[in-house]
Amino acid sequence: MLTHIIAHRGASGYAPENTMAAFRLAEKMGADGVETDVQLTKDGVPVLIHDENVRRTTNGTGFVQDYTFDELRKLDTGSWFSSEFTGLQIPSLEELLQWIIDRPLFLHLELKTDVIPYTHIEKKVYTLLRNYHMLERTCMSSFNENTLAVIKDLNPSVRTAFLTSTNMRKLIPFVSSIPADDLHIKHTLLSRKLVQRGNKNRVEMRVYTVNKPALIRKCFQLSCAGIFTDVPDIALSIRKAQERST
Ligand code: G3P
Ligand code: MG
Repeated sequence: MLTHIIAHRGASGYAPENTMAAFRLAEKMGADGVETDVQLTKDGVPVLIHDENVRRTTNGTGFVQDYTFDELRKLDTGSWFSSEFTGLQIPSLEELLQWIIDRPLFLHLELKTDVIPYTHIEKKVYTLLRNYHMLERTCMSSFNENTLAVIKDLNPSVRTAFLTSTNMRKLIPFVSSIPADDLHIKHTLLSRKLVQRGNKNRVEMRVYTVNKPALIRKCFQLSCAGIFTDVPDIALSIRKAQERST
């Protein structure tokens, strides 16, 4: 099985995470897909930012949920990374969808509901995906299993994945019981046994965040369905070298 190389928050090793610059770079490098994190503004607009608080990745302070979309767009989410990116704005999910719709990329949308239970975020995101005809190449993931259950209630055919960094017993049966389709694990949980158990139960396994060459190779070797990486160019060159040698 070809392991998909998914740019984690875009090509976030080289451009500010979760910006259009990072997504564009991921495409240019040849990634199979992009991963991004979704939160809701005060006026209910799905936006792409990892943390609940804007402090780390913008020149502002406070919580995303306390900003209207127009207020949030005034923040600079580029200069914390490098002056080269000064003036970048936090994208809305819709901006990403308008861009990705014409590009052959898979989309992994992580709904950040594990800290703040954003009201109706699942329905809002689902409706946008449906309107942009993106449901077939999108996987919606969350650390919060309730979010995944809500999505399946909206439409059982939407692909979903449970995210975890916890070494739970009976992880695969738990995923099926949510119900969810796939499992996205922190790299520390990766084992041959778990991938095999997943395969047996048709639970696809993707691993985050995989940046080191040795770990990238291990994920390829175990035929994981995908890796989330900040450095898609490195993962692609390893995959190409392996393809040449077989
Ligand atoms: O979706 C995989 C990965 O992004 C989960 O962790 O904290 O980087 O959003 P985090
Ligand atoms: Mg994420």
